[in-house]
Amino acid sequence: MGAVTMKVILTGGAGQLGQAVRRSVPNAIGGRAVELITTTRSGGEGTIVLDLADAAACRALVEQHQPDWVINAGAYTAVDKAETEPNLAHAVNATAPGALAEALACTGGQLLQLSTDFVFSGAQGLPYRPDQPVDPLGVYGASKAAGEAAAASALTADCLCILRASWVYGPVGRNFLLTILRLMAEQEQLGVVADQVGCPTCTAGLARACWAVLERGVCGIHHWSDAGAASWYDFAIAISELALAQGLLQRAAAVRPLTTADYPTPARRPSYSLLDCTGTRKALDLPPTHWRQTLRQLLEAAT
Ligand SMILES: NC(=O)c1ccc[n+]([C@@H]2O[C@H](COP(=O)([O-])OP(=O)(O)OC[C@H]3O[C@@H](n4cnc5c(N)ncnc54)[C@H](OP(=O)(O)O)[C@@H]3O)[C@@H](O)[C@H]2O)c1
Repeated sequence: MGAVTMKVILTGGAGQLGQAVRRSVPNAIGGRAVELITTTRSGGEGTIVLDLADAAACRALVEQHQPDWVINAGAYTAVDKAETEPNLAHAVNATAPGALAEALACTGGQLLQLSTDFVFSGAQGLPYRPDQPVDPLGVYGASKAAGEAAAASALTADCLCILRASWVYGPVGRNFLLTILRLMAEQEQLGVVADQVGCPTCTAGLARACWAVLERGVCGIHHWSDAGAASWYDFAIAISELALAQGLLQRAAAVRPLTTADYPTPARRPSYSLLDCTGTRKALDLPPTHWRQTLRQLLEAAT
């Protein structure tokens, strides 16, 4: 007789994606009730403490619970700080997925490894397909690319899904939307980079894609973002317009376009990191939604 429940371990349960995954747990997958075991760095109600920088702890958790799937949403995501903490970024983003994958290879489970558009340099100026070689610019992107490789070397192809997302934002956590809303409430004007192009991606849709991977048993490398394209400047302008319309901002702050050269950061970022999501949308049977529409829905829900 098969197991009654589908057991899923979620890492990074306090992160913006982790919280969206926790909010959207399906009742059942393939007729089996879903049992979600959530881990966070510091514990908290209903969660288990897991330090992703501790590879032995990652292995032990999988061995203890023997999950059907691990959704590895935990990550070192401080792109600029990673330039001065490469060892920690590598431990969390590369060694941990490798350790989770090694343990899952022994227990017979599957891994959904979240990854990023920052595994690409952006130099080609066209949307990236999932099968293209990675060429990261900074420590964060390199550590995430190393995590993909570590997972792939430990698990057979039918037990691993790598899901790369771009420009993730949502109603909670550290993200561009919440930062811009705060700055617009505090400042008369602000400058935003206009020569980096990508696609904003809402955590709710990304979480839905994660669960669809488990429901459909999808494996391989996949790309997920909302539809369309934007610069950070375009994204900021849309946030301003929609937040004013919803009464979330009382007045418009002036938004000035900057070049990357005007706004130097410790980490280099891709200038064009759109992800080609065509195959993934088909595989997951999820339709494209334009990023501006998902942004509007999120802001409407906040009022
Ligand atoms: N954010 C983006 O724009 C973006 C873009 C593309 C892809 N991604 C990928 O999407 C996934 C989810 O990212 P996100 O946006 O949800 O990031 P996030 O909000 O920064 O969440 C990451 C979580 O990982 C946890 N974490 C960090 N170091 C840890 C450690 N040593 N031990 C245990 N937990 C640790 C953090 O814990 P604390 O809460 O304690 O800090 C946080 O809860 C990641 O794989 C990321 O690389 C993100």
